[in-house]
Amino acid sequence: MTILITNGTVVSAQGSTKADVLVDGETIAAVIAPGDTSLGADLARSADRVIDAAGKLVVPGGIDGHTHMEMPFGGTVASDTFETGTRAAAWGGTTTIIDFAVQKQGERVQDCLADWHRKAGGNCAIDYGFHQVIGGVDSDSLKAMDELVDEGVTTFKLFMAYPGVFLSSDGQILQAMQQAAGNGSMIMMHAENGSAIDVLVAQALAEGKTDPKYHSLTRPWETEAEAVNRAVMLARMTGSPLYIVHMSAKQAVEVLQKHRDEGWNVFGETCPQYLYLSVEEHLAKAGFEGAKWVCSTPLRERAERHQDELWRYLRTNDLSVISTDHCPFCFKEQKEMGVGDFSKIPNGIGGVEHRMDLIYQGVVEGQITLERWVELCSTTPARMFGLYGRKGDIRPGFDADIVIYDPAGRTEIGVGKTHHMNMDHSAWEGFVIDGHVDTVLSRGKVIIDDNRYLGSKGDGVFLKRGLSQYLI
Ligand code: URP
Ligand code: ZN
Ligand code: ZN
Repeated sequence: MTILITNGTVVSAQGSTKADVLVDGETIAAVIAPGDTSLGADLARSADRVIDAAGKLVVPGGIDGHTHMEMPFGGTVASDTFETGTRAAAWGGTTTIIDFAVQKQGERVQDCLADWHRKAGGNCAIDYGFHQVIGGVDSDSLKAMDELVDEGVTTFKLFMAYPGVFLSSDGQILQAMQQAAGNGSMIMMHAENGSAIDVLVAQALAEGKTDPKYHSLTRPWETEAEAVNRAVMLARMTGSPLYIVHMSAKQAVEVLQKHRDEGWNVFGETCPQYLYLSVEEHLAKAGFEGAKWVCSTPLRERAERHQDELWRYLRTNDLSVISTDHCPFCFKEQKEMGVGDFSKIPNGIGGVEHRMDLIYQGVVEGQITLERWVELCSTTPARMFGLYGRKGDIRPGFDADIVIYDPAGRTEIGVGKTHHMNMDHSAWEGFVIDGHVDTVLSRGKVIIDDNRYLGSKGDGVFLKRGLSQYLI
């Protein structure tokens, strides 16, 4: 099957240019400049299908490097399966996810990874890879890290939060970083001072402060900035690169920036929720509704201008990746577990379907350029997580993961609108985007076209990833 995408504007991290794209089977065969007839004067006649992309943007499929499908967490399980979550991702122009396999103290890392393979295998609409959470750092899990690297799981997440569940001590973190420095993998860090937070949470509850907004007020920016600094200092002792996930406080990114300016190989990720949502407008809504926006790190106050500063850090590249941290829970029965006690609200927001649109709105509003949109949502994640050469760009030989995006379109987000995630509410209800995902190709197969889903479960395959291109 050959597909010719004609008359569109091909956008890469480097620039935008008018070009046709020839897809042959699962990969991109050629990117053809106007007037170039070296492949034949009338390719349109010989192609099996021609897609006219006049007026449209032709961009590499989105790579969401941070999702949690069907993850047991907070006393319940994230509500999207690999089937529902990856299908929703496809609707929104994301063609690759990297999900977190989870290991806890006492469990064998290899068994946990096998469990994630079982959940995802044969169920995904788009390609997928795994990071591995190491919740119990010991000699076995350290050895397992080397084994996993050979199996294409080249990134390991550690937690400085959630004492008694996932938290690693500084010594354990140091050991895991040493192991990563030895095998070329990369540590991803959930940077929040979990012990301090637990004290603040207990004190708030003892004072009768039980509403969802206290989730943020008991995780002040200092708990994030302190943990970022500690994590980077530990990484500096080992020479291991470090990737800080889901950053929300401007002061925490300022700490990261300082270390980057000193030449250290440390990277920051943020998520759409931290760019658009706030304590005042969302988490502090009357009654229990704010539970919809409980996630960690927490939403921050708009009055303190975190959101504007994060956009600025995206421009300076001190934040270099946007992922969703898609961790969906239904309001009924799941978020409601925390009625009367905010600390029992499962932490997480669903958004895998909306990242490409939400960040495109940043282009419309002048926060970032078109090229930076592609770089933050596809190219850098591909380079960061060992997928470049196959994903993250529109170039000959790359997988034909392509989104045809209509900049004159419109997308209304919300339940009953563009929502395909397995959630009974949307954290993004009412958001309207000046753009629209028209067509999505995943390895050459058209899976979204004209507001229809044409894929099937099992289309997506496991991606054995290489090492990050950002290692020194
Ligand atoms: O609130 C969040 N972020 N839930 C998912 C788990 C994590 O820490 O990424
Ligand atoms: Zn986390
Ligand atoms: Zn997460």
